[in-house]
Amino acid sequence: MDYTAGLDVALNRLHEEGRYRTFIDIERRKGAFPNAVWRRPDGTEKDITVWCGNDYLGMGQHPVVLAAMHEAIDATGAGSGGTRNISGTTVYHKALEAELADLHGKEAALVFTSAYIANDATLSTLPKLFPGLIIYSDELNHASMIEGIRRNGGAKRIFRHNDVSHLRALLEADDPKAPKLIAFESIYSMDGDFGPIAEILDLADEFNALTYIDEVHAVGMYGPRGAGVAERDGLMGRIDIINGTLAKAYGVMGGYIASSAKMCDAIRSYAPGFIFTTSLPPAIAAGAAASVRHLKTDQARRDQQQLQARILKMRLKGLGLPIIDHGSHIVPVIVGDPVHTKMISDMLLERFGIYVQPINFPTVPRGTERLRFTPSPVHGPKEIDALVQSMDELWAQCALNRAELSA
Ligand SMILES: Cc1ncc(COP(=O)(O)O)c(C=O)c1O
Repeated sequence: MDYTAGLDVALNRLHEEGRYRTFIDIERRKGAFPNAVWRRPDGTEKDITVWCGNDYLGMGQHPVVLAAMHEAIDATGAGSGGTRNISGTTVYHKALEAELADLHGKEAALVFTSAYIANDATLSTLPKLFPGLIIYSDELNHASMIEGIRRNGGAKRIFRHNDVSHLRALLEADDPKAPKLIAFESIYSMDGDFGPIAEILDLADEFNALTYIDEVHAVGMYGPRGAGVAERDGLMGRIDIINGTLAKAYGVMGGYIASSAKMCDAIRSYAPGFIFTTSLPPAIAAGAAASVRHLKTDQARRDQQQLQARILKMRLKGLGLPIIDHGSHIVPVIVGDPVHTKMISDMLLERFGIYVQPINFPTVPRGTERLRFTPSPVHGPKEIDALVQSMDELWAQCALNRAELSA
């Protein structure tokens, strides 16, 4: 086998389809988010505004978070020094898990190195705990859930996105005695649409199924204490396992599940993705805990984010740009072609210092390639004005479609 030729074929395929991913090097400046510096490959620099980050609330530069991290580093050093099992469970990890259990009103929580790992490790472990488990999974679930479900070797059923009738039909077709779990998200991050939580929970009750919700794009931002959409809708207590991230609205790193004490104990004991990896550095756990604690009461920050999202959507709609609006904080503008999406993203960056990464297949279906904007409390009127004017100019210049896509 000519391995180099194999790599060339794989990479050329991406180039030909306009799907080759280019990462841009940015240096975020504490205190100045969302402004940052882009370092070009030739060594030159440009000031930019980041419009596609998932530090949704600007917590990555919040003094409370930074102080907790500095304090923990000074007190305890850099790494945790071990897996959770072998010396890597520190007071910081325990405090974070207690904070998360309290956030979700659950008996316990388990922290993983990321929400990706939390999803993958938990979903791949559940069939070991419940032999014969059938997992019903929304077709648009995140890659980490898909991987976990695929790898577990158990039975799976994929229901059409948010289609509770289809889910019902699948549940009805299976043995009523078989253990079942329904896995879905509260906010699907590419369109910004909400999962039908109440309807899914009703079906779960009817068919005696467990429920697993990914609230990665909601925790910190929805609900009176930032526990997510299920909290906002008064449904959190009916969900068996809640998954969240500490890396997006909480601005740090790590992921978790919150559930019953027994469920967490079993996952802790059986999931290789929890056991056989070094635990998060204590300073990360300390920063994340401070962020979770802070956002339990900082409703003003949540309100500000929603306001910025509404303003941006209204102004882009006013220009007739094809945005998707499901009433969440995510603002996708559909371009519908990978080459055009990349071109517009490049022009925004080079000409206007606006950084929004193009989103292509397989992250979104072909033909729906898009720019996905994530306004936050730190995107002020100046940043919004600059973005709207640049988009207007580019849309005119590139003669792109202005028909609005409604939710
Ligand atoms: C829906 C969803 N779940 C899980 C994850 C993984 O989160 P983390 O970045 O903490 O691994 C992501 C990441 O983008 C996501 O979009």
